[in-house]
Amino acid sequence: MYISRRFLMTALKSRQNIFTVVYVSVILFFLYYRFVLNEYKVTSLTLKKYIMRHHDASVIQHMNEEQLQVKNILFWTKFWNKTSWYLGSDEAGKELLESLNCPVTNCFFTHNRTYLSNVTQYDAILFHGAQYLKDQSPNERASDQLYVFANLESPYLTVENLTRYKNFYNLTMTYRFDSDIPWFYGRIVEKSTSEIIAPSMNPTWKEPESNFYDPEMHKIVLRKKTAMAWFASNCKSASKREDLVNKLQKFIDVDIYGKCGKLHCEKNSMLCYDMLTTNYSFYLSFENSICRDYITEKLYRPLTEYIIPIVFNSGKMSLYAPPNSYIDANDFDSIEHLVAHLKFLMSNPKEYVKYFWWKKYYDVVIDPASFKIGFCDLCMKLNNPEFMEQKHMYPDIHSWWVDGMC
Ligand SMILES: *[C@@H]1O[C@H](CO)[C@@H](O)[C@H](O)[C@H]1NC(C)=O
Ligand SMILES: *[C@@H]1O[C@H](CO)[C@@H](O)[C@H](O)[C@H]1NC(C)=O
Ligand SMILES: *[C@@H]1O[C@H](CO)[C@@H](O)[C@H](O)[C@H]1NC(C)=O
Ligand SMILES: *[C@@H]1O[C@H](CO)[C@@H](O)[C@H](O)[C@H]1NC(C)=O
Ligand SMILES: *[C@@H]1O[C@H](CO)[C@@H](O)[C@H](O)[C@H]1NC(C)=O
Ligand SMILES: *[C@@H]1O[C@H](CO)[C@@H](O)[C@H](O)[C@H]1NC(C)=O
Repeated sequence: MYISRRFLMTALKSRQNIFTVVYVSVILFFLYYRFVLNEYKVTSLTLKKYIMRHHDASVIQHMNEEQLQVKNILFWTKFWNKTSWYLGSDEAGKELLESLNCPVTNCFFTHNRTYLSNVTQYDAILFHGAQYLKDQSPNERASDQLYVFANLESPYLTVENLTRYKNFYNLTMTYRFDSDIPWFYGRIVEKSTSEIIAPSMNPTWKEPESNFYDPEMHKIVLRKKTAMAWFASNCKSASKREDLVNKLQKFIDVDIYGKCGKLHCEKNSMLCYDMLTTNYSFYLSFENSICRDYITEKLYRPLTEYIIPIVFNSGKMSLYAPPNSYIDANDFDSIEHLVAHLKFLMSNPKEYVKYFWWKKYYDVVIDPASFKIGFCDLCMKLNNPEFMEQKHMYPDIHSWWVDGMC
């Protein structure tokens, strides 16, 4: 009797211990989840929703073993001087696609031409369209192989003469909406749903709040000393943006960083971009070329900071960024009108702050995360039987990419 009672007490106690252990673990996991995993979770969820929204995932669920075999994708060229093409390593596959929460993970990307013994065995071959030279093409080609024209530069920076590429490419992967695989410099994500809203042909934005105010943002704005910053390395651009900058300088202070000015800031350094928040009211997001759909990190980078981008491009801005998050130079009749508006905002911080109304609803995803999504999209296409049944051809890539685009 005594023994069994003691046994019972011990059992109860150890049960209590188990409860304590479980209880503490739950709390620890919660803390870990809240502070460590959360950031990761936001991006991966985001990408998953985006991918689900833009592809018919049910197609993939019904695929059989054979269809799900690995698709091998070869990077025939470098991407400028990157053999990894933004993927972080020269070879990437399942792990990368899983980290993106891509619905398909059966693609393998490599820069190693001899990974497969015969070049005709790659399902797709990517060429960096802006610099690829035709003389160095693969010497054999299978008829079911897809040659992909991948390009993030404007037609002006596409150095190779594309008239030589008749009946060469099968697919396009570019910033243009009409590409087979649209590939963007940045994405706008809705915080509450983790859904990627833009770029898209028909984004639905929340209404800007006309009485938006935030005291913390007000403080940031009061600390800003200089009107404008411009980072540029191409001083004789096709868009003649430098002429516009020269005119602006007559009315307003513009600090010019990079080759076109006297100031210097380490490219891609975080400090450079932090400085936009701390020191400047406006950022000149002028693209170096005015070409269809050509909107780059020059828009998305400043949106990650507390600064208003001034855009000058031919894009329909509502497809790319929330309303009242930027100033479009095209909306003003003259430089004087634009400058008057900028000066008004600088002397009315409460009005200036209204350009940040969207920050509590949306996040901005920039490269390299934004670029990687393109490789999931490519893998989805290669796995889509309906898409793969069709022939895909660009008989004249030059006319598609260049004619009438700028
Ligand atoms: C290659 O890229 C690195 C990093 O972006 C850069 O520092 C270097 O100058 C580039 N080299 C060439 C040859 O373009
Ligand atoms: C390329 O792949 C082949 C076959 O797997 C391998 O033998 C070779 O070492 C690889 N080359 C590089 C540079 O990784
Ligand atoms: C590569 O494969 C193709 C198609 O099977 C074949 O015709 C060709 O001879 C092979 N090339 C080499 C170098 O083995
Ligand atoms: C590109 O090649 C075509 C055909 O050879 C030629 O007519 C055209 O002038 C070339 N364009 C440039 C910019 O060199
Ligand atoms: C901001 O401007 C001030 C004064 O011009 C300068 O001293 C400071 O270094 C700037 N801040 C950054 C982060 O560059
Ligand atoms: C890819 O393009 C080439 C050249 O235009 C063409 O011969 C081939 O049939 C195309 N392949 C597919 C799968 O569409």
